[in-house]
Amino acid sequence: MASLPKVLIYAAHSAPAYAEALRRLGSPAQLLVAQDPDEARRLAPQADVLFSWRFPQDAYALAHRLRWVQSMGAGVEDIVAAEELRRDVLVTRVVDQFGGMIAEYVFSELLARVRQHPQLRAQQAESRWQHIEVGTLEGSRIGVAGLGSIGREIVRKARAFDMQVSGLSRTGESDVEVDRLFGPEGWPDFVGDLDVLVLALPLTPDTREVVSEKVLAAMRPTSVLVNIGRGATVDQAALVHALQAGRLGGAILDVFREEPLPEQSPLWTLPGVIVTPHVSGPSIAGRVAGLFHENLSRFNAGKALRGLVDRRAGY
Ligand code: GLV
Repeated sequence: MASLPKVLIYAAHSAPAYAEALRRLGSPAQLLVAQDPDEARRLAPQADVLFSWRFPQDAYALAHRLRWVQSMGAGVEDIVAAEELRRDVLVTRVVDQFGGMIAEYVFSELLARVRQHPQLRAQQAESRWQHIEVGTLEGSRIGVAGLGSIGREIVRKARAFDMQVSGLSRTGESDVEVDRLFGPEGWPDFVGDLDVLVLALPLTPDTREVVSEKVLAAMRPTSVLVNIGRGATVDQAALVHALQAGRLGGAILDVFREEPLPEQSPLWTLPGVIVTPHVSGPSIAGRVAGLFHENLSRFNAGKALRGLVDRRAGY
């Protein structure tokens, strides 16, 4: 019988939790566990498979036996950018796990905003009974850029709130029903009449700062930008200017060009801006390990892997 593949599990804090989950599942592999870059470099030469999050870029060069990298997350921009990673190494990412939680993040923040939650909580704190106007999501226009498994779930939930839904995808096609559909050439028209723009885009050479000064200028001054994908898909300096100049109604931001968001960033304190520390779609060790376990069986049997990344497209 062929020997079991050596799987190097790497994640700064949670590698042992992933290892434990794989042991419970009885995964057919020899597990190596690393939690810091030095351990990763030491163990990299033994690894046939990497199951990792933010693996140190220089350590790919040491992994000469490597045949497959399974990311613990959805975004793989650091892996596809790793020049040391041989072209024949397969890369897979997590699919179909984050949409539900990320959609909950988007709509909890949008509802809080439109239903005036901060104002109502402030009144309650002062025992003050005062009628205020509240709005509704019903009938308002939302656009979702990126119609992968996360974007599609946001579209599905937007429909449940009876919103008018537009979508934009790289191919100009969609597996989910939207009222208006745009391709990458259609950004200005896509954003032009939206109340809410949600970015669910991977970071690739094509999407880097795709929400440019020009795209921001095409948005309505009352509209809200929500980013749950990657910070660098937005020209962040242009976003700050647009918000400061009142050319945008607000922003709900879970991702940033630089993370952690530097303390001196004006985004922390700009009115109408919600900043959260990249929490909208956490990787849950048990669930992600389940996907890896399934993929490992496929890998051992020479079958097609789930979530296979097109390294040229970048996701
Ligand atoms: C988190 O950002 C992920 O890519 O899974």
